[in-house]
Amino acid sequence: MFIDPFGRAVNYLRISLTDRCNLRCVYCMPGEGVQWQPRADQLSAAEIVRVVEAAAEGGVSRVRLTGGEPLVHPHIIEIVRGIASIKGIEEVSLTTNAMLLESLAQPLADAGLKRVNISLDSLDAAKFKRITRGGDLTRVWKGIAAAEHAHLSPLKLNTVIVSGLNADELPAFARLTMENNWHVRFIEVMPIGNAQDWGEGFPSLGERYVSVQEMRSALATFDLRPATSPQGNGPARTYRIPNALGTIGFISPLGEHFCQHCNRLRLTSDGKLRSCLVIPAEVSLRDAVRSGKSIEEFFQQAVAQKPEHHDMLIAVPTGSQRGMSQIGG
Ligand code: 5AD
Ligand code: SF4
Repeated sequence: MFIDPFGRAVNYLRISLTDRCNLRCVYCMPGEGVQWQPRADQLSAAEIVRVVEAAAEGGVSRVRLTGGEPLVHPHIIEIVRGIASIKGIEEVSLTTNAMLLESLAQPLADAGLKRVNISLDSLDAAKFKRITRGGDLTRVWKGIAAAEHAHLSPLKLNTVIVSGLNADELPAFARLTMENNWHVRFIEVMPIGNAQDWGEGFPSLGERYVSVQEMRSALATFDLRPATSPQGNGPARTYRIPNALGTIGFISPLGEHFCQHCNRLRLTSDGKLRSCLVIPAEVSLRDAVRSGKSIEEFFQQAVAQKPEHHDMLIAVPTGSQRGMSQIGG
């Protein structure tokens, strides 16, 4: 068992498979000129599977694949299959923008994927295209339909709420849960990734943040009742509209941070173990993997480094040089 200095058991590993993405969401990346990591710096499919084997020996039982966009990884099916077959791994899930999900949902399910979280920040096609700088909402809906068809459930939708951009859509997202067994989670925007200017017509850094309390107030007419979280039990506080099929969750990395329940480690797309999304300390695993050293020792080191909590502030870019696309959201 990996137990950190504050008594938290670490059983969950998030792996950023690649920093590359087929979209450029404004809060995540600049529109142009992103410097991708050299492929040689990234772990291969076989190396990733080896890392998860070591993690599983230390008690990690759940793995989430993220990015960037994990579905642009050329070996995604092979990676899912490799990880799903490791003894001790009970659940492999994935976070995706769903642009490539329509054709991959079934092969992923066949390879052992249990469920998907879909990042979706607008239900309006034109606004979706603007936020993602080129995304096609029709493809997302097709991806969601394919995920349901492949029984990748429970299906969660992640919506980052930004004032002056999509905060007006809170009720429309909430309404989706009435007729669908989907779990919509509203996330506070963090000053990580593209914390600078987003360009013409977008709110400035100081104008973007909406707290979960404000989000809940915007949904006051729905009579939200506390509910138990669906499978996965992430950091969301969960509610249900009376008689709705799905739930509504609020994730507050800033306002009500959930560090005291943190059970995770992250593996960056270039093979570094990170004990916290916000705090920049990293343990380089890649060299160990490549030189055949014991990997578990490096996990122990990262677990020992887990901070009690972070001190991220609403409109101050974090000290981290990396965005979510490298660290894994
Ligand atoms: N603030 C909040 N959420 C973010 N994500 C990416 N960047 C940020 C940010 N700056 C979210 C994505 C996705 C998940 C992986 O992380 O929208 O749902
Ligand atoms: Fe891609 Fe996700 Fe970043 Fe959007 S938030 S650019 S989908 S990695």
